[in-house]
Amino acid sequence: MRIGVLTGGGDCPGLNAVIRAVVRKGISEFGHEFVGFRNGWRGPLENLTRPLDVQAVRGILPRGGTILGSSRTNPFKIDGGVEKIQANLVAQGVDALIAIGGEDTLGVAAKLYEQGVQVVGVPKTIDNDLNATDYTFGFDTAVNIAMEAIDRLHTTAESHHRCLVVEVMGRHAGWIALHAGMAGGVNVILVPERHFDIDEVARYVEKRFETQYAPIVVVAEGATPVEGQMVLQTEERDAFGHVRLGGIGQWVATEVEARTGKESRTVVLGHIQRGGTPTAFDRVLATRFGLHAIDAAHEQDWGKMVALRGTDIVRVPLTEATAELKTVPLERYAEAEVFFG
Ligand code: F6P
Repeated sequence: MRIGVLTGGGDCPGLNAVIRAVVRKGISEFGHEFVGFRNGWRGPLENLTRPLDVQAVRGILPRGGTILGSSRTNPFKIDGGVEKIQANLVAQGVDALIAIGGEDTLGVAAKLYEQGVQVVGVPKTIDNDLNATDYTFGFDTAVNIAMEAIDRLHTTAESHHRCLVVEVMGRHAGWIALHAGMAGGVNVILVPERHFDIDEVARYVEKRFETQYAPIVVVAEGATPVEGQMVLQTEERDAFGHVRLGGIGQWVATEVEARTGKESRTVVLGHIQRGGTPTAFDRVLATRFGLHAIDAAHEQDWGKMVALRGTDIVRVPLTEATAELKTVPLERYAEAEVFFG
């Protein structure tokens, strides 16, 4: 077979490890041929390709980002988009696609499959919010980056008797905030799954100051206060209808300072969480996903996504995997709450 590979949506550490595993096993064990589609769904839409052979994937295992490039292009929002993709696949002699992405990219893959495109999906997102898989690669790297930042912020916050608010990524799910906050021993964790009361946050901060230990607050970008609206950076939306988030950390710091009289500052980790080399956990998970994705394609098991269940890699229908997001259960949040204040 000639198989097209693409990466869509926000990049994350481990994408290259998947591409490498797909290509290495696909060529050496099955004798398939590969073509890289560049920039997510824009690749097959506009015929943007690059060669993808063993030589092209040498040395990319530890490299962050994606050698194929990415975009948030939604072919279902483009007139005749699906037909263009189908025609371009035929023109390129491509029999099937391996799409590596999050809820949006795999949502497109699920719909294309219904329209007859032979596709296998691989889940990725630093947010870890894809249903049907216990973990996505990229998440562990993002959590470790945020934890290291928190460790560093503890010492400077203590020296200056300040409250430091760390804003982390997490549009609809607070997994990064929860794990980085627990690992970093922070004062309070705020997640999108639970509206927070800013007065309560201020009380926790005050309590931490009483112990001579400076408070660190971790807030997921999608977290919202009980009485307020989500804080948006812009009203701009992408092709999947998502607004660009950012700004809740600054809002929390301002309100905490007003209530406690203690200097409060914000650190927005932003894309630092997505860049750079993947952790060993993410390299191994991404590699295993790649190996199992090419197995699925070789067996012509289309319309499936590879997923981690416990320590096993399984296949689940793409439609099931993209039906709903995996958010933080309130009992998991309650475990972290023991350490608040
Ligand atoms: O979906 C992954 C993610 O990193 C979210 O946590 C975040 O809201 C979004 O991507 C940011 O996207 P962009 O890189 O387009 O600003």
